[in-house]
Amino acid sequence: FNTRSLEGLEIHITAGPTREPLDPVRYISNHSSGKMGYALAEAAIDAGARVKLISGPVNLATPAHVERVSVTTAQDMLHASLEGLASCDIFIACAAVADYRPTSIAEHKIKKGNEEIMELHLVKNPDIVATVAASADKPFTIGFAAETRDVLSYAKDKLARKKLDMIIANDVSQTGIGFNSDENAVTLVTTTTQIDIPQTSKRQLAKQLIEQIALLYKQSK
Ligand code: C5P
Repeated sequence: FNTRSLEGLEIHITAGPTREPLDPVRYISNHSSGKMGYALAEAAIDAGARVKLISGPVNLATPAHVERVSVTTAQDMLHASLEGLASCDIFIACAAVADYRPTSIAEHKIKKGNEEIMELHLVKNPDIVATVAASADKPFTIGFAAETRDVLSYAKDKLARKKLDMIIANDVSQTGIGFNSDENAVTLVTTTTQIDIPQTSKRQLAKQLIEQIALLYKQSK
């Protein structure tokens, strides 16, 4: 592991889930632990980068030397991600952003009624990584694709559709890796290369990913 491979570079990383409130006491969210994003932040620091970690609510300590910006909703995460993009060299979208949010947030706690069925109205959230990739200050932009089938073809489709420079494909149908687990196995995909990284701890994987990202970033310049 090269402790200087990202020296002089600034990396922004989104991590964890987002939380979409329904009323003052309830929200819609997911089981993302934030572990992969936090491990990447730590590995990027170890490789000499300056790191901003844009984090949804997680139970993890902020790694040393990392600047953490805490956010709650997808819209908060988007605003924090667009801020300071001009000085960002590499953007890694590791967050599990809620695809939809309630169309409105009730001012008071929603009361239980007599009806058996309750309908919620949801509206699509902005795509953060695609918005970053479409910005005038586009950094080298990396996304994740967590899929349960046809992993590589969906990943390649996302790479093109979101105009990413790299996508890290993750088969979440296998137990023991991915979501909320301590281990992961991925395939790193760009328009020209495909690199398999076999199952290992998220910490080890983060180090290997950071090494590959540093190489591919430099090749892109
Ligand atoms: O389309 P899908 O959600 O599978 O794409 C996953 C990738 O896109 C991840 O890198 C995730 O962080 C990012 N994403 C995002 N904003 C969203 C949805 C996904 O940045 N609203």
